[in-house]
Amino acid sequence: MGRYCIRVATGASLFAGSHNRVRLWLVGAHGETKLELELRPVRGQVSRRERGPPPRPELGLAAGGQPRGERPVRRGIQELNDSWTALAGTSSLRVLAPQEEEFEHDVPDDLGPLQFVKLRKHHSLVDDAWFCDRITVQGPGAGEEAAFPCYSWVQGEGVLCLPEGTGGGSGGRTTQTVANHLHVSPARLAGDNALDVFQKHREKELKERHQIYCWATWKEGLPLTIAAGCEDDLPPNMRFQEEKRLDFEWTQKAGALEMFLKRVYTLLSSWNRLEDFDHIFWGQKSTLAGQWSPQGLEEGDIPTVYCPPSPLHPDPTEKVRQHWQEDEFFGYQFLNGANPMLLRRSTALPPRLVLPSGMEELRAQLERELQNGSLFEADFILLDGIPANVIQGEKQYLAAPLVMLKMDPHGKLLPMVIQLQPPSPSSPTPPLFLPSDPPLAWLLAKSWVRNSDFQLHQLQYHLLNTHLLAEVIAVATMRCLPGLHPVFKFLMPHIRYTMEINTRARTQLISDGGVFDKAVSTGGGGHVHLLRRAMAQLTYCSLCPPDDLAERGLLGTPGAHYAHDALRLWDITARSPPAPLGRYVERIVRLFYHGDDVVRGDPELQAWCREITEVGLCRAQDRGFPVSFQSQNQLCHFLTMCVFTCTAQHGAINKGQLEWYAWVPNAPCTMRMPPPTTKEDVTMATVMGSLPDVQKACLQMAITWHLGRHQPDMVPLGHHKEKYFSEAKAKAALNQFQTDLANLEREITARNEQLDLPYEYLKPSLTENSITI
Ligand SMILES: [Fe+2]
Repeated sequence: MGRYCIRVATGASLFAGSHNRVRLWLVGAHGETKLELELRPVRGQVSRRERGPPPRPELGLAAGGQPRGERPVRRGIQELNDSWTALAGTSSLRVLAPQEEEFEHDVPDDLGPLQFVKLRKHHSLVDDAWFCDRITVQGPGAGEEAAFPCYSWVQGEGVLCLPEGTGGGSGGRTTQTVANHLHVSPARLAGDNALDVFQKHREKELKERHQIYCWATWKEGLPLTIAAGCEDDLPPNMRFQEEKRLDFEWTQKAGALEMFLKRVYTLLSSWNRLEDFDHIFWGQKSTLAGQWSPQGLEEGDIPTVYCPPSPLHPDPTEKVRQHWQEDEFFGYQFLNGANPMLLRRSTALPPRLVLPSGMEELRAQLERELQNGSLFEADFILLDGIPANVIQGEKQYLAAPLVMLKMDPHGKLLPMVIQLQPPSPSSPTPPLFLPSDPPLAWLLAKSWVRNSDFQLHQLQYHLLNTHLLAEVIAVATMRCLPGLHPVFKFLMPHIRYTMEINTRARTQLISDGGVFDKAVSTGGGGHVHLLRRAMAQLTYCSLCPPDDLAERGLLGTPGAHYAHDALRLWDITARSPPAPLGRYVERIVRLFYHGDDVVRGDPELQAWCREITEVGLCRAQDRGFPVSFQSQNQLCHFLTMCVFTCTAQHGAINKGQLEWYAWVPNAPCTMRMPPPTTKEDVTMATVMGSLPDVQKACLQMAITWHLGRHQPDMVPLGHHKEKYFSEAKAKAALNQFQTDLANLEREITARNEQLDLPYEYLKPSLTENSITI
C-alpha cells in the first residue's frame, strides 16, 4: 500500500508516440493492481540538436490525470516536413527528443517487490503503434526505483509484460551470483526453479521469439539469415525507424536522379580519355555527406561531427582523383584504403609466381626484400575461375591477380610486380607486369588489381565478414537470449538496424537483377560463388585483429594505421591490461559471471553460442568458432569479436567506399575487356575499353555515395542511449569505455595531423555502434 510514481518514456523517433489509449498494471510479489489511469503516449517533440544543453523533457499528465506541464501537441505533418527539411540538407539535423510522462497513483494493497509491468494498448479504428523506451516505478513512497526496459513497439491489443530489470525481485541464479558484487542485480541468468516467475517469463518470451525470429537460407553454403522476403516482413522491432527510412529512401532516389542526369549529360560528351570520368565525378559528395551531426551525443561528449575537408587535409576523394596512378598511392591502399584485409607479409615467394628466364634480377630483388622482411603480397586467388557477369549482352571479365610489394625504409609500400592470372597448364605462362613497363600497360595492370580488390572487398570482407556475420549474431541473440539476460542487454545496441539493411541488400543489391547484376563483374551469380568460397575459409581468428594481424605479419608495421587503430580499439573493448578493473567487455562479463563454472552452467548462453556456430554459420566449429564457452576469458573474447565486428570492423570496411571508389578508375566495378596478355599493345583505347562505361560508372558512383556517406542518424560507438542496464557497475563500465574511446580519439587526431592522408576510418567518433548501412 502506498503511493507509486510511474514514469513512462516514449521513444524519440518520428512516429514513436501514439494516439491510442494504453492501460497499465503493476505486478508485485504479493499482488497485482490494475491502475485506473490511461496513458496516451505522446509523440516525440522536434528539437534542434545544435549547441546548448539537450532539450528538457516535457511532462504530460500527473496525479489524477491533472496536467503537470504543457502536453506536446500532435504534429505529424509538421514533423514530417521538418524531417524532410533536415534530409534535404539544412545546416543541422533535427532530431526528436524522447518524451516522458509521469503519474502518481495510490494503491491500497501491499504489492510487495515489483516484478512486472503489464501494458495493453486499446484502439478503436486505427492501431497506432507506440514505441516505448522504458517505464520506471518508484514507491511506495520514496522506495527504490524499479526499471522496466522495453525499447519495443507496442502494437495490437495483446498484453505486453515487462519484467523488472533492476533486481530486488525473486530473480534467478544471478541474484545469488552477483550478491557479493552488487546491492541490486540488473539482469538475471536463467534459474533452475521452474516455478520462479522470472524463469517462467523468460521461457515464454523465448518461445514467442522462436516464432517471430526464424532462420532462412538465402543461398546454400552461406550463413543463414532472418526469414524475411523483404523489409516489410521483418519483426517491427528490427525495422528502421522513420527518420532512417526516409533518409535511406530519399538518398537512394536522389542518387538515381543524379545518375540519370549525368548520363544524359555524358551523352553529349566524349568517353575515350581518363579525364572523361570527370563528367560524373562526385567528389563534393563526401563534403555534403559530412554535414550531418550524429545522434547520441550531448554537450560535453567527444565531438562527432564529420568535419568538412580542411585546407590541411583536402577532400580525400579529390586526392584519389589526383594521385590514383601513382605507385605509392596504389600500395598505400593495401594498408589503409577501403580494404586493408588482404595484404600479408611474405614468408616465402608464392608458388604461383613463375618467373620466366630473363627475370633473374627481379628474383634477386624479391629474395632480398624477403630476407629483409620487407616483402609483402596480395593474392586474389579466390577469384580464380569465378564466372564473370554478362550485362545487357556484353561479356564482362575477371582476373585473379597476385601483387608483390616492398616496403621502403620510409614505410612506403611500392608494387614490384603484378601477375594478373595464375599459371595454368592450358595457357601460356602469364606475363608479369612491372613498374618499368610502358606506362599504360602498367596502369592497366594496376587497374585490374583494383577491380579485383573491389570484388573481394565488397563481397568477402564487407558483406560476408561483417554484414552477414552480424546478422547471424543478431538472429541468434533474439532467438536464444531473453530480455533479462545480460548478454542480450549488452548486445542489443550493437545489432540495431542490421536485419533491415541486410534484407534490403538481398532485395536490391545482390538480388537477381540488383546492382551487382547491373554493374559489377562478379554479378550474375559469380558473387554467390565467391561468397561461398569466402565462407568456406572464414575462420574465427580472422575476425579478431590480434590473431588476424599476427597471422598476416602486420603487427608493428610502420604506417599501417588500420592495423594500429584496430588493435587499440580491440584492446579498449576487450580485456587487456592496464585498465585495473579490466576493459569494457571484461567488466560486464565479470559482473554477471562470477567464475568459469557460472559461464559453463548458463544454458541460455551456451545455446546462443551453439546457435551461432552450428546453425547460423552452418557448423563453423571446424574453423575455430566455439560451440560452447568454458571460461570467462573465452566468453570475453567472443563478445569482443561480436562488438568489434558490428562496429569498428564494419566502419573500417564501409567508410572507405566513398573516398576510394568515387573516382571510378581507382576501383572499377567491372572490366569490359579480358586481362592483357601483352604489354606493347596496350593503348588508351584498351584502358578505356576495359574500364566501366558511363552507365556502370554512374551506378558505381550512386551506390558508393548511398552506402558510403556518413549516416545522419548514426550513433557513435559506445554512446547508445538505451538503458538496458540499470545498476551502477554496468553504467560505470560503459562510462569508462567512453572515456577510453575519447582518449583514443585524441591519439588518432594527433597522429593524423602529422599525416598527408589522415586515417579516419577507426576514429571512435566516426565508428557506428551497429551495422546500419
Ligand atoms: Fe555496410
